[in-house]
Amino acid sequence: ALVSMRQLLDHAAENGYGLPAFNVNNLEQVQAIMQAADECNSPVIMQGSAGARKYAGEAFLRHLIDAAIEAYPHIPVVMHQDHGASPAVCINAIRSGFSSVMMDGSLKEDGKTPSSFEYNVEVTRKVVEMSHAVGVSVEGELGCLGSLESGHGEKEDGHGAEGVLTMDQLLTDPNEAAEFVKATGVDALAIAIGTSHGAYKFTRPPTGDVLAISRIKEIHARIPNTHLVMHGSSSVPQEWLKIINDFGGTMGQTYGVPVEEIVEGIKHGVRKVNIDTDLRMASTGAIRRYLAENTKDFDPRKFYAAATKAMKDICKARFEAFGSAGNA
Ligand code: G3H
Ligand code: 13P
Ligand code: NA
Ligand code: ZN
Repeated sequence: ALVSMRQLLDHAAENGYGLPAFNVNNLEQVQAIMQAADECNSPVIMQGSAGARKYAGEAFLRHLIDAAIEAYPHIPVVMHQDHGASPAVCINAIRSGFSSVMMDGSLKEDGKTPSSFEYNVEVTRKVVEMSHAVGVSVEGELGCLGSLESGHGEKEDGHGAEGVLTMDQLLTDPNEAAEFVKATGVDALAIAIGTSHGAYKFTRPPTGDVLAISRIKEIHARIPNTHLVMHGSSSVPQEWLKIINDFGGTMGQTYGVPVEEIVEGIKHGVRKVNIDTDLRMASTGAIRRYLAENTKDFDPRKFYAAATKAMKDICKARFEAFGSAGNA
């Protein structure tokens, strides 16, 4: 059944677990997530970016999710708009049947340039007003995602005119977070706590201090009723990196956010954990390997099935580690 983000995250908060939110663009990703959720009895958050709607087409994406809900009626599903760059994008998502939207006002409408606090409040408040009127939840974002190791923002780019961002600029300010939530009424807040989008997060193996856990605690203490969201939370599985490169890929050495650190964040108020890169890597590695090892095959269902299985294993591992398994 389709449920709102608020319902799901309230339950997660009451019971002390977190939920992975996986990005979806195609049939295989949707099936991998639903098969994994079914096997471990977890509720599901699927999210589509504007790029996903462009790739699949609005109707195809909508019906893929509807198919998931029809095929697994016992699994609560949130369909969430990821990184809405404007109120218009969020309205389109709501019209498309999404039960939750992210208004990412931390950036201007170009999706690149950091915006002002006032702009962020204004667009987010507008989206909250419209969304709540129709039972749709809203995620906002405050702060600049970027790796503390590199001192660089990624999408929210630290390499721009203003130069490299300082450590403090890369972490969400707890007082601002409280002011933002009060002014906007968001259900969930994405915070900057040391992560960045994509595969290239850290150049060295993490040593247990990737996330700014103390900052998570401070923010949670200020806004205990707002669910915290971690973007850029892929773990960048080293086994899949190796498989990609063993079978013709040329990805550089890189590291992600260790699952144990995410679990620590969940203990301190993180409820939604965004993951896209891990499933991309598993699917690419599985397809590269399948095609290299089965050179006579030309039935795409074979290599797509290999990708689905690889993604499903990661989904199950995250449902179990974050504690959502058993809570459907
Ligand atoms: O944060 C972005 C997500 O990983 C979605 O990426 O815009 O390429 O679909 P995308
Ligand atoms: P990753 O690139 O770490 O998977 O993060 C995805 C994300 O934050 C989507 O909003
Ligand atoms: Na999101
Ligand atoms: Zn994100």
